[in-house]
Amino acid sequence: MIKNIAVLGAGTMGHGIAETFAMYGFSVNLYETSEKIRNSVMSIIKGELDFAAENELIDKSEVNGIINNIKLFSDLKSAVENADYVIEATPEILELKQNLFRELDGYCKKEAILASNTSSLALNEMMKLVSDERKKRMIVCHWYNPAHLMPIAELSFFGNMNEVTFKEVEALYSKIGKQTVKVLKDVPGLVANRIQQGVAREVFSLIEMGVASPKDIDKALKFGPAFRYATTGQLEVADMGGLDIWCTVGDNLLSVMDNRTEANPILRKKVEEGKLGLKSGEGFFEYTNEASQNFKNDFNKRLIIQLKTSKNYI
Ligand SMILES: NC(=O)c1ccc[n+]([C@@H]2O[C@H](COP(=O)([O-])OP(=O)(O)OC[C@H]3O[C@@H](n4cnc5c(N)ncnc54)[C@H](O)[C@@H]3O)[C@@H](O)[C@H]2O)c1
Repeated sequence: MIKNIAVLGAGTMGHGIAETFAMYGFSVNLYETSEKIRNSVMSIIKGELDFAAENELIDKSEVNGIINNIKLFSDLKSAVENADYVIEATPEILELKQNLFRELDGYCKKEAILASNTSSLALNEMMKLVSDERKKRMIVCHWYNPAHLMPIAELSFFGNMNEVTFKEVEALYSKIGKQTVKVLKDVPGLVANRIQQGVAREVFSLIEMGVASPKDIDKALKFGPAFRYATTGQLEVADMGGLDIWCTVGDNLLSVMDNRTEANPILRKKVEEGKLGLKSGEGFFEYTNEASQNFKNDFNKRLIIQLKTSKNYI
């Protein structure tokens, strides 16, 4: 049974992954190479937990206990030697992950399961330097940002791992409140990111063509398709509308919609101009410092409301 967790990398994803396991009572060793990040990460986690308590996702009295479940490490071996499940959320660099897994293979118990939160690297490539026995206990577990609020985890089942071990990981993720998606083929982007890019491609294209203002295009998404998607999947929506209708509309629309195979030029232009979104104060919309903090808080608040509501639709 998986009891002890180790999370490697305490950046955007790693801190939230550690926080989630700790919220559900797991003892978590959090390993981070950067001293600067080690010095700031616990206050970031505390801030998120306080916010979750203010918004009644957890009880205020739980915050200290959750924080005490997380231990910070600067030494890899001591962070992972007792772990039953290790997940890395280190930078998306193949060589770094290959070497990390090679080291882990040596440091971890033989029955430990090693996971990667990679967004785009192939499992086969990442596990190139580990023993054949360990390859049977390696998996991609892809979280969404913010990790402690987004309820999805995509789990790879690419043929290297047996069903019993997979079920162990699946059960672990159910215990921490995640909806798991069993991904059967090692395709770039897995499932959720590919769906998201499909939508994003058309959104950027509509802006490029000037079909509506950026604000109205986001509005069309929020109060149109995405309003249903929060509780109802695309295939359920198609079944409800009638597959004959979806077939006809597909024939009529898909040939005139965007099918380019690279990022939209308006996106590239914004990047060249340094308009990167919240972090630079301007993207498709403009943000003052204060507006940017309010935007993040509102975003998290809405996710918490959805998280609480969606429990009724599972
Ligand atoms: N950011 C996202 O929205 C997102 C979503 C899903 C998956 N991912 C994936 O998660 C992984 C991490 O992404 P992120 O956005 O959290 O990156 P990040 O840059 O915010 O964090 C990475 C952390 O790893 C630390 N680090 C660097 N080398 C290390 C090492 N050898 N051992 C331990 N820690 C090390 C860095 O100091 C940093 O704190 C990537 O594989 C990424 O593709 C990211």
